[in-house]
Amino acid sequence: MIIEPRTRGFICLTSHPVGCEQNVINQIEYVKSKGKIEGAKKVLVIGASTGFGLASRISSAFGSDAATIGVFFDKPATEGRPGSPGFYNTAAFEKQAIAAGLYAKSINGDAFSNEIKEQVVNLIKEDLGQVDLVIYSLASPVRTHPVTGKRYKSVLKPIGDVFSNKTVDFHTGKVSEISINPAEGEDVENTINVMGGEDWKMWMDALQSENLLAEGATTVAYSYIGPEVTKPVYRNGTIGAAKDHLEATAFTIADDLKSIGGKAFVSVNKALVTQASSAIPVIPLYISLLYKVMKAKGIHEGCIEQIQRLYSERLFGGDLALDEKGRIRVDDWEMREDVQAEVNKLWKTATTENLSEIGDLEGYSNDFYNLFGFKVDGVDYDADVNEVVNVPSIQ
Ligand code: NAI
Ligand code: NA
Repeated sequence: MIIEPRTRGFICLTSHPVGCEQNVINQIEYVKSKGKIEGAKKVLVIGASTGFGLASRISSAFGSDAATIGVFFDKPATEGRPGSPGFYNTAAFEKQAIAAGLYAKSINGDAFSNEIKEQVVNLIKEDLGQVDLVIYSLASPVRTHPVTGKRYKSVLKPIGDVFSNKTVDFHTGKVSEISINPAEGEDVENTINVMGGEDWKMWMDALQSENLLAEGATTVAYSYIGPEVTKPVYRNGTIGAAKDHLEATAFTIADDLKSIGGKAFVSVNKALVTQASSAIPVIPLYISLLYKVMKAKGIHEGCIEQIQRLYSERLFGGDLALDEKGRIRVDDWEMREDVQAEVNKLWKTATTENLSEIGDLEGYSNDFYNLFGFKVDGVDYDADVNEVVNVPSIQ
């Protein structure tokens, strides 16, 4: 079939298998171009099909020749209906990994559930024996608690006061003023339940209790801080409360791993266009200004550049360069004083009329379409493609 983008707000209902495959190939080529990383050899990535998790899987496999197991929650294609991009990405990843002689298996299902944890535990036992790196990169709006069965929904709200600021509809370029009402009821606890660290710890407990973590194993989860303008809705909001919890959990897990000489870290990453971040009000305007400034300074990075640098310079580069709260910072270039000062200045003047000039709306929009395999260079979108693509290890 011929597949075209069909967008609804900040989601795209279709995705393109060839475009997704090309994105994965481009990321692999990038990692290979940067040379070998003396990193982990047996890697579990939870949230492995898009964004930072996919970049982590690619960096491990093609940077360190690692065997990888990837866990994600995606929709396979059916006749006449494209699958979700994560499914196509994983199909492409496995194809490339197999061609390179690398072990790669994937599990598609709810990572929050006991069933999926059990499947992964069994797969590691059968195939790898142990893992030496666990990347935790889930981004989800909901979580069903595996013990109580209660379904929690996360929200993106400020805490305390109404927050008003500018935002942009990145499809139309229209800049407008929005007001977001503060969290109420159990909003904060619910969001912590979904995006906090409880599930990460459950994963690590499940792996450790079955002796599936190698001596010196490391685990890393991803967090975000961001600028002053998004603080009320991000870091000081409900999602920030969940990130505080995630970051605190790193210390709990680190204690648990002491007996095997293991380590647990949070890496604070840069703001990037992903399915998760497009849904957060105010952030798209910030990202479009940030991209403009960082590109002009020659320091723009995407997910793959971020994770390749995290691995080569921090995790396996001998200098973790932890901040005062014990976190790895690959948002260091985003948070540079000169970058933030310029973004701040632009923020004050941004309007519908000038945004296409002072911001990188085109870059934002392009990245958004790229997430779904559209507008990828070199792909013939007029060609008939087979929408049903299988992940080799999931048949
Ligand atoms: P994403 O939406 O691209 O990736 C999320 C991944 O989680 C996908 O592989 C998806 O299939 C998987 N997933 C979601 N729910 C699942 C479930 N129930 N079971 C199994 N898999 C599930 O998100 P992104 O942006 O890569 O986020 C990953 C982490 O990085 C998050 O913790 C996020 O807060 C953090 N981060 C994101 C930044 C950004 O600007 N996008 C910046 C800094 C950190
Ligand atoms: Na991810």
